[in-house]
Amino acid sequence: MSEVVLKSKETPIDFNTVQQKIKASGLPSVGKASIREIVRLVNEIEKETGDKYIRMEMGVPGLEPSAVGTEAEIAALRKGVAAKYPMIEGFADLKVEISRFVKNFMNIEVDSANCIPTVGSMQGAFATYLVAGRSNAKKDTVLFIDPGFPVQKQQLNVLGMKYEGFDVYNYRGEKLKEKLESFLSKGNISMILYSNPNNPSWICFTETELKIIAELANKYDVIVVEDLAYFAMDFRNDLSKPGVPPYQPTIANYTDNFMLLISSSKAFSYAGQRVGMMVISNKLFSRKYPDLLRYFKSDSFGYAMIYGAVYSLSSGCSHSAQYALAAMLKAANDGSFNFVEDVREYGERAKIMKKIFTENGFKIVYDMDEDKPLADGFYFTFSYPGMDGVELLERLVYYGVSAISLAITGSERIEGLRACVSQTSRSQFEDLDYRLRMFNKHYS
Ligand SMILES: Cc1ncc(COP(=O)(O)O)c(C=O)c1O
Repeated sequence: MSEVVLKSKETPIDFNTVQQKIKASGLPSVGKASIREIVRLVNEIEKETGDKYIRMEMGVPGLEPSAVGTEAEIAALRKGVAAKYPMIEGFADLKVEISRFVKNFMNIEVDSANCIPTVGSMQGAFATYLVAGRSNAKKDTVLFIDPGFPVQKQQLNVLGMKYEGFDVYNYRGEKLKEKLESFLSKGNISMILYSNPNNPSWICFTETELKIIAELANKYDVIVVEDLAYFAMDFRNDLSKPGVPPYQPTIANYTDNFMLLISSSKAFSYAGQRVGMMVISNKLFSRKYPDLLRYFKSDSFGYAMIYGAVYSLSSGCSHSAQYALAAMLKAANDGSFNFVEDVREYGERAKIMKKIFTENGFKIVYDMDEDKPLADGFYFTFSYPGMDGVELLERLVYYGVSAISLAITGSERIEGLRACVSQTSRSQFEDLDYRLRMFNKHYS
């Protein structure tokens, strides 16, 4: 049973039901639960009480999928692609569109052969651990620039692979160099992984920081895996025009030792079909790593990735979803579909929701990109004075508000929670305000 002390039983959601459901969940601590465990608990409470929560725990797209994708997928299914195994390296038209996409929206050149569809970026990350993470026998550890997406660490736990990480917030700008070097100079790091914009903090790396990461990756011969799950979603800049600057910032401008994971889940609201993109730099794709022969038939990085890792994991990626992605990318590349405009709503919501939180006594935890205020986007982080994140999360559940604790993300800011704005519609803002006001009244 929980040790968290609750100050009032006059909570917006029936106190006894919440308490009983928490107990029945068997969770040793609500505040430390995984994203999916919180989802299950809140589903149970909603079912029992009939009350609707402000659900901020899971990064589910809250928008309609792009019609361009859905229509192309239906057409592909009607054509009968479901009966056929897809090519493991991906359907040719899709590979071309991915290559065009990175040229148009990042201004980088990557051959279409080196652009591979994956079963979401989730699988993309798993495959990178299998190949990049095992490319050099002396380097057995993955380095996360944290805070980060908790499931990526779970993947490494499942594989029995080692990882290290550090919370980047205290090492922004030039300070990043010394910190990063303190890890890389030990010689055990095979690859660095970070997301940009960052899940959970919504930090966006500056060009100075990307340059530092790249320079050190070159110096220590480490592969950088840039996770662009929130591609073009730093809404402070308009990154939506193909072939026109500004572009999505990337490490690829500063090193050849890179791989990109680009998810279709958020930028194209296509999470359900589990299709993402892996882009491997031309140089890295053809590079030979003799130590890969421990696990794969080939020592060539790209070959091992496709015919070793991706083949073993799922024999490629859903055929019809590849058609959908190809169509969405083509429309974006041709300038007939502004995918960024469709998701800008998240930034608008975040701005209002942050205001509701701060007006009710809460604080924003990660709030700056070096000298610039943080962007408003898919996530934000918050805390309440005098409480750690574990207490805060459990208490908020009684007020009909769910989130996840930063403690499970590699963050040092254990007082904080991550809020995802995608599932909170504007019609719920009034409820959010009321619930936070009650909370503030009881705990201030
Ligand atoms: C940082 C990050 N990487 C990867 C993913 C997974 O993406 P996908 O749905 O393409 O597997 C997510 C999803 O929330 C994410 O936040």
